[in-house]
Amino acid sequence: MCGIFGYVGAGANPEVLIEGIKRLEYRGYDSWGVCVACDDQLTMLRRVGRIGGVDAADLDLGGKGCLSGIAHTRWATHGAPTEANAHPHADCTGKIALIHNGIIENYGSLREKLRAQGHRFRSETDTEVIPHLIEELLKSEPSFDAAFQGALRLLVGAYGIAAMWAEDPGAIYVARHGSPIVLGLGKDRTLVASDPAPLVAHTREVIYLDDGELAILHCDGFETRTLEGASVNKRVQQIAFGLPDIERGGFPHFMLKEISEQPESIHNAYRGRIVRAEGTAKLGGVDEALLRKVQRCHIVACGTSWNAGLIGKYLLENLARVPTQVSYGAEFRYSHPVIEAGTLVIAISQSGETADTLAAVREAKIVGADTIGVCNVVGSTIARECGKGIYIHAGPEIGVASTKAFTSQLVVLSLLAVHLGRMRGLSLRAGLLYLDALERLPEQASQLLADRERIAEIARQYARCENFLYVGRLYEYPAALEGALKLKEISYIHAEGVQAAEMKHGPIALISPEVPTVVLAAQEEIRDKMVGNAHEIRARGGRIIAVTQEGDREMEGLAEHTIHIPKTLDPLVPVLGVIPLQLFAYSVAIERGCDVDKPRNLAKSVTVE
Ligand code: AGP
Repeated sequence: MCGIFGYVGAGANPEVLIEGIKRLEYRGYDSWGVCVACDDQLTMLRRVGRIGGVDAADLDLGGKGCLSGIAHTRWATHGAPTEANAHPHADCTGKIALIHNGIIENYGSLREKLRAQGHRFRSETDTEVIPHLIEELLKSEPSFDAAFQGALRLLVGAYGIAAMWAEDPGAIYVARHGSPIVLGLGKDRTLVASDPAPLVAHTREVIYLDDGELAILHCDGFETRTLEGASVNKRVQQIAFGLPDIERGGFPHFMLKEISEQPESIHNAYRGRIVRAEGTAKLGGVDEALLRKVQRCHIVACGTSWNAGLIGKYLLENLARVPTQVSYGAEFRYSHPVIEAGTLVIAISQSGETADTLAAVREAKIVGADTIGVCNVVGSTIARECGKGIYIHAGPEIGVASTKAFTSQLVVLSLLAVHLGRMRGLSLRAGLLYLDALERLPEQASQLLADRERIAEIARQYARCENFLYVGRLYEYPAALEGALKLKEISYIHAEGVQAAEMKHGPIALISPEVPTVVLAAQEEIRDKMVGNAHEIRARGGRIIAVTQEGDREMEGLAEHTIHIPKTLDPLVPVLGVIPLQLFAYSVAIERGCDVDKPRNLAKSVTVE
């Protein structure tokens, strides 16, 4: 899952390219590279590590008279992060430069064939076969365009590609199969990127390529075609966010900015969707008829979105009495699940580009299930492939560790559960109870954020621990999984989320003064059970950080530190309860000197299997 950026037309220069991939760095950040077509030649530069504060002026990339350029930021799949493996990759002549996001599965056999035809390879990557393939086909095809198309037809796997040819410096050739490609339309320039973030500084007008499509970009326009050569008319769409949304806005990190935006993002998730008179929700992107025939739900997702899906299961079963399963995207696509008639497959994905979740959607459609997407990124592939769904409106999420998207996913799943519930006997009074509680969440989240410094102080006292347990029950069990995931992702501490009653069946053996336990006990219904679990941990010398309701003195007495959350309905407790866990993980990571926005080995959206 790399970041691709390209620019052809007025203002093409190394600065614009560097700025472009800096805005994509959350997609992969172990190495980067640029290629510009200046003065009738291609000049390439590749580096290992972060782009960070690189200044294009320091780069020996020529500068005057650039017509076009491409740039790439990498998340290594084939070949370690080295200069040789960084993109762009070239052919033997150095006249073709190409950047790629995805995996070419048949690169091994293609490489052997090309080697036998005398091609010399400089890298260990799968990508490098593509420019050599084009070079080989150029010997027999009438044009670069035809050679480019011919090469694409020989590839097996996923790709988002942008290529340049020294003999046609005023054009960029792009193609999509499995990895996202967005075109940016300007008056005297045309751009390409893996997602809209780097385009918004230049234009709001974009076009999303679909699988099996390619485009040739020129300064004054573009043409789009299928791989078979048929012309394709594409709908121009508007980017819904602005530059300020993708700036840090004075915060030291995007993660902290996004945690702090939750009062607003939670509000945006239900804004205009609450119908008080009917005690239900209005979800414009999903038609009533489809919801009325739902017999069961099957949620597919990965990572943090999967944790939200688990809470979605409890919400849909408790509020709407709809039997609901939750599967990891990768398990769903290969486990041949039983999908009965009346199954609604709900794909939850912040980025809308996660390969395994996307593949699960495609599998669900093959077996005839209805599908809806619960996504954040407007126009993303999962949203478009589902065709129906609910946007969570959390705004751009740049920090690799998902925070505000999680709470907005929970709000939207609550609205869906209330809506389905009202269709299936949930009373008006009960519906209103949930809607009232939802509308109190933004203010309550603000109260929690005001406790940030105290939470940071607590976190600093545990920053040297190397193992953590997070325990919870019912709605707080997935929240415990999420708290542990946040700590793992950004501080590299081993942390495990455990269903509290399961502790006695094994994990309690880990309890010791060196392994602190975060105990989530803010739900009314199971509070006494959690107090029992806290006693078991204390009895074995365990240190407890408790997240509980205001005024819960008993839990406070059992814990070394207690974080209180405002009172809300049990199903909505994770929306508030996860915020101190996000702040705790953030502060521990800061204390350990970790790069919280770009944690090692991770990327914001996982577009490869
Ligand atoms: C969460 O902090 C991680 N970035 C990761 O687990 C993420 O949730 C997962 O990759 C799914 O991403 P998606 O929601 O964009 O599909």
